[in-house]
Formats: sequence, structure tokens, C-alpha cells
Amino acid sequence: MNRGRLITIEGIDGAGKTTLAAGLIDALRARGIDVIPLREPGGVPTAERIRDLVIDPELPVSARTEALLYAAARAQLVEEAIEPLLARGTWVLLDRFIDSSLAYQGGGRQLGIDAVRAINEFAIRTACPDRTLLLTIDPGRGRSRSHSRTRELDRLEREQDDFFERTVAAYEELRSQDPQRIRQIDAAQAPEQVLQAALGELADLLPDPS
Ligand code: TMP
Repeated sequence: MNRGRLITIEGIDGAGKTTLAAGLIDALRARGIDVIPLREPGGVPTAERIRDLVIDPELPVSARTEALLYAAARAQLVEEAIEPLLARGTWVLLDRFIDSSLAYQGGGRQLGIDAVRAINEFAIRTACPDRTLLLTIDPGRGRSRSHSRTRELDRLEREQDDFFERTVAAYEELRSQDPQRIRQIDAAQAPEQVLQAALGELADLLPDPS
């Protein structure tokens, strides 16, 4: 049996990752692919509890604690859900993964991409994404989209503009280091165009339609 593919969606808050994930799940299933959507931080009960901690605006969480909490949530998700799914041939579509920590904690929090990569490699072991769709949007526009949501802003979303500028710059650095895996998609386009662009970036991984 072939191992499933691990596809991740990345980008700053308000880039439209959740909308793209919903569209992609339907499009991939329509092509006969067995695919499960998951999100980070969360996806399994222990990781959902860590999510509640890490995004709570009422709690003091230092930068290093934050990086370790995201990595801990990720380790549990990999062990409990991602690895078993991939091993049985199921694809996993993941809303955020290791690159979120490299960009937000490595770049945004200025812990450094290499330091954050080290703890995350310990957490994920061999579960590397086969392809990463990076939704890019002007940070100001992303922020106004996430600020227009009805729910309260989480602890990370309350950060200042320079935090998101550093996060965007780190995402771009990651993309330029690994353009084969990380494909950029202009998130300012209409959702249907974003979905078509994403399918184009996955074309070589998709089964032959015949
Ligand atoms: P979400 O809004 O995509 O559900 O993610 C919650 C917040 O967590 C979001 O502001 C981005 C942040 N985040 C990190 O800072 N590092 C990470 O590794 C992950 C997965 C999310």
C-alpha cells in the first residue's frame, strides 16, 4: 500500500486557509482521494487542550514556552493521528504545521528559525510535508480580515504589526529555501481562483484522472 500524502496549508491569520482547506477537501475527494482534514494547534484531544492554553489572551506565555507548547501539540498530533493515517494510505490536509512555528516563533517571536526547527524536528520525526501551500497576503489586509471575525482575537492575533511583518518575512525565507515543497499562492484572489491555483500546485501529486 502506498503511503498517504501530507499536504499543509500555511500563511498569516486572515489569509483564507480555512476556506481553502474546505474547498480542497471536496476537490480531492471528488478525484477519489481518501483525505482527512486536520488543524493545528489541535486535531486530537491533548493537542486541543494545549491549543486552549497557548492562545488564551489571559495567560502569560513566554516565547520559549509558546514554541515548546506548539511543538508538544504537534508531537501528539503526529503520533496519534498523522502517522497512522499516512501509514494506511490516507492523505492528510493540515491547516498549519511546522512552518507556522518556524515563521511565528522563529521569525515573529525572534527565537530564530534554526532553534525552532530543532525542537520541531524532535517533535515530528519523519512526518515531513510532501507539499505546502503558502497563502500570501498583505499583513494589513490579513489583519483586517481576522479582525472582522465575530469571535474574540486570540493571544497571537493581538500582536502588533511588526510581529506579523517578521512572520511574513520568515515564511518568504522558508519558501525561497525550499521552493519545490513550498508553493506560494496569492490569497488576494477570489476563493475559487485560490482553490484552482492550489490544485495546480498539487497537480503532480494527484492520481491520473483516467
Ligand atoms: P489558527 O488561528 O490558525 O487556528 O492558529 C491559532 C494561532 O496560533 C494563530 O494566531 C497562529 C498561531 N500559531 C503559531 O504561532 N505557531 C504554530 O506553530 C501554530 C500551529 C499556530
